Amino acid sequence: MKLNAYGRSGLTVSQLGLGAGQIGDAALDEAHVAKLLNTALDLGITLIDTARGYGLSEERIGRHLAHRRSEFVLSTKVGYGIDGYADWTGAVIHAGIDAALMRLQTDVIDIVHLHSCSLDVLRAGEVVEALMRARDAGKIRVAAYAGENDPLGWALAHGGFGGVECSVSLFDQRTLQHWLPAAVERGQGVIAKRALGNAPWRHAERPTGQYVEAYWDRMQVLAYDTTGLPWDEFALRFSAWQPEVSAAITGTTSVENLRRNVDAVNRGPLPDEVVAQLRARFAEVGSQWQGEL
Ligand SMILES: NC(=O)c1ccc[n+]([C@@H]2O[C@H](COP(=O)([O-])OP(=O)(O)OC[C@H]3O[C@@H](n4cnc5c(N)ncnc54)[C@H](OP(=O)(O)O)[C@@H]3O)[C@@H](O)[C@H]2O)c1
Repeated sequence: MKLNAYGRSGLTVSQLGLGAGQIGDAALDEAHVAKLLNTALDLGITLIDTARGYGLSEERIGRHLAHRRSEFVLSTKVGYGIDGYADWTGAVIHAGIDAALMRLQTDVIDIVHLHSCSLDVLRAGEVVEALMRARDAGKIRVAAYAGENDPLGWALAHGGFGGVECSVSLFDQRTLQHWLPAAVERGQGVIAKRALGNAPWRHAERPTGQYVEAYWDRMQVLAYDTTGLPWDEFALRFSAWQPEVSAAITGTTSVENLRRNVDAVNRGPLPDEVVAQLRARFAEVGSQWQGEL
């Protein structure tokens, strides 16, 4: 698995990371989660992304991977969900980081994102200052922002954030068009989330009310030609190999899909002319589409 610098942070991340949202599901068998997490590291993945809000995800990463902590870069997200603290205050940032350190069974978290807070919250300054203080205190290595559109642009321009996490896929190229070139110039790391666009091709009918619905609609309009490749390979080789991206993350509960995704990224970028066509097609029909959280 190719390794990339995560901006100028000094961290190195594998080009494909594991999005650990799905493994927070309490219905999943514990032994299966242990196998999935350990297989990810065995396959050369060195980035795992979680969040306070992903159910059992943080505590499962701690439980099953604490003994392999030196093998991966750990990313989480804070800002809400701690009993006794109001969401999106300085106090909940500190409490959230302390809680994450405990749940993840680690002394330091490599990347901590503000989890998609609004522009107003960012501008008020309190949570941003709290995150920077936690970094200066050595509890976290990189202060980062996860989100889209105007708040993402604000965070990138602020100068204090060492990295961002945002949607990058065949179906969501707004960040590539608007924000990421400047991020790279500033030396900020970029994690591309929803790199498969939640795999909308799996749905024969419109998945009304599901997370993937907006991407399914876009897929119909974009009408890409996958050049004979399977959809998952086509999608991941696009997202992971964009020059602005330090690492792309995919979420899965399936060891088989995890292996397929690693193999796909290892096959390298799509041909330059195909990438140029995919970017031009999105610019043609999707330039008004907002980034999807
Ligand atoms: N606001 C935020 O900060 C935010 C928002 C969204 C996501 N994230 C992060 O980004 C990660 C990835 O996002 P995501 O999970 O929403 O999007 P994604 O990776 O684009 O899509 C995940 C979906 O694709 C399926 N999948 C995975 N590999 C596949 C393959 N080879 N073929 C077909 N289907 C496949 C998975 O199902 P199976 O389980 O069946 O494989 C899962 O339903 C999350 O886990 C989380 O860490 C952050």
